[in-house]
Amino acid sequence: MRFLITAGPTREPIDPVRYLSNRSSGKMGYAIAEAALEAGHEVVLISGPIDVARPRGAAVIAVSTSDEMFAAVGQHSLRCDILVMCAAVADYKPAKVSKSKIKKRSENISLELIPTRDILASLPKDRQYLVVGFAAETENLQANARKKLREKNCDIVVANDVSRADSGMESDQNEVEILFRDGETKQIPRASKKIISRDLVRIFEKYFEKRLTKKTQ
Ligand code: PMT
Repeated sequence: MRFLITAGPTREPIDPVRYLSNRSSGKMGYAIAEAALEAGHEVVLISGPIDVARPRGAAVIAVSTSDEMFAAVGQHSLRCDILVMCAAVADYKPAKVSKSKIKKRSENISLELIPTRDILASLPKDRQYLVVGFAAETENLQANARKKLREKNCDIVVANDVSRADSGMESDQNEVEILFRDGETKQIPRASKKIISRDLVRIFEKYFEKRLTKKTQ
């Protein structure tokens, strides 16, 4: 199967030296890429700016902004079987990017932010590939993740709690709840991102095959 995986944060420039970003380390997305390669799949990895070794065997496409990630997903999803949107894409970006470095002054300044384009929500409805979204939540994990699954038209959402320091973002460990379109859920208890990723890849493969069988019947 052909996996297209996004990982890491995006950076939304404010001026030539400053940007808005988040704490995503890329570890979860890279671990999924490693697990998919280990299972014999083809992997294209669209990566935000991070400091993790590239998985050997993956085609890595480096991007920085949400707009660049949007374009890369649009281009590469045309030939994938499973899209895994693990990247922590910024929800907002500055309305204007200053061409020169903003000078320090004594008074307050404000930054106007505008929503970024939602990559998942803008994928075609009649696509052939499986779409896996992630939900990074600090409260009401299942309810918020279920809402994202519906509103972003995903087949599967992997929900994780990002309020804890020892799990989720930056950590080597995670604990996830997987939500399927038909209402089914599955838990993967706390484990290393490497172990969780192997389980996730098996679950995605199974779901993809089940969907294919249904279509050909
Ligand atoms: O990188 P690590 O440090 O290992 O941490 C892993 C992780 C916590 C970043 C990862 O497991 C995770 O949860 N990734 C999704 C983070 C996120 O942006 O969640 P969200 O709930 O804000 O977004 C929901 C989904 O919409 C995500 O699949 C996201 O990629 C997608 N999205 C978000 C914004 C946007 N403009 N377009 C999108 O497609």
